[in-house]
Amino acid sequence: MAVNITFHPGSVTSTERTQLLLQKGVTIWLTGLSASGKSTIACALEQHLLKLHKFTYRLDGDNIRLGLNKDLGFDEKSRNENIRRIGEVSKLFADAGCVSITAFISPYLADRAIARKLHHEASLPFVEVYVDAPLQVVEERDPKGLYRKARAGEIKEFTGVSAPYEAPEAPEIHIKTDETEVVDAVRIITEYLISRGYLSI
Ligand SMILES: Nc1ncnc2c1ncn2[C@@H]1O[C@H](COP(=O)(O)OP(=O)(O)OP(=O)(O)O)[C@@H](O)[C@H]1O
Ligand SMILES: [Mg+2]
Repeated sequence: MAVNITFHPGSVTSTERTQLLLQKGVTIWLTGLSASGKSTIACALEQHLLKLHKFTYRLDGDNIRLGLNKDLGFDEKSRNENIRRIGEVSKLFADAGCVSITAFISPYLADRAIARKLHHEASLPFVEVYVDAPLQVVEERDPKGLYRKARAGEIKEFTGVSAPYEAPEAPEIHIKTDETEVVDAVRIITEYLISRGYLSI
């Protein structure tokens, strides 16, 4: 709990920041099973938007667990804290005017709801993208060999095998990656951002 702490506002309002940077901040929150395609889509989307000269940055689960969150494990409490921190960090990036793309399994509805609420309280848009593929498909893909290890009991609490995944109930975007090419996923997300006025190109 923060005691004896007073928020110190800046000298530039968020409206002024948007006008000066010619860009609005937004968080694009990718959620889905391991190997559903979050990192693949996040990389392609980041590349696409950067080439359109948009200030874009990707926060990827694996990468963040190598640094900021390297003190956290995979039990439920650690997963809660992992996502709480990422909610805060992506909010900061969005507040800075960035298109912030997060690629985390983020298996719990309540954790994603907290991230969404944080953004809404700061009047920042939060676009939840359900990166969806059936368990059978992601197990066949298994690019990191994690499902094989989880089935062999070498990894405990693995999402979809021995830990829950709570699918989004009302995501802004739902992409079925067993039916949608990466390039089309990028197009769908970009078109959504434009249609909502979050991105202008
Ligand atoms: N349409 C598609 N969209 C995204 N990925 C696809 C698609 N078709 C096949 N793939 C493959 O599926 C795999 C997805 O792996 P990726 O690392 O992106 O998953 P992830 O959701 O980030 O998993 P993790 O939670 O373990 O980080 C890649 O090998 C990718 O090439
Ligand atoms: Mg990934």
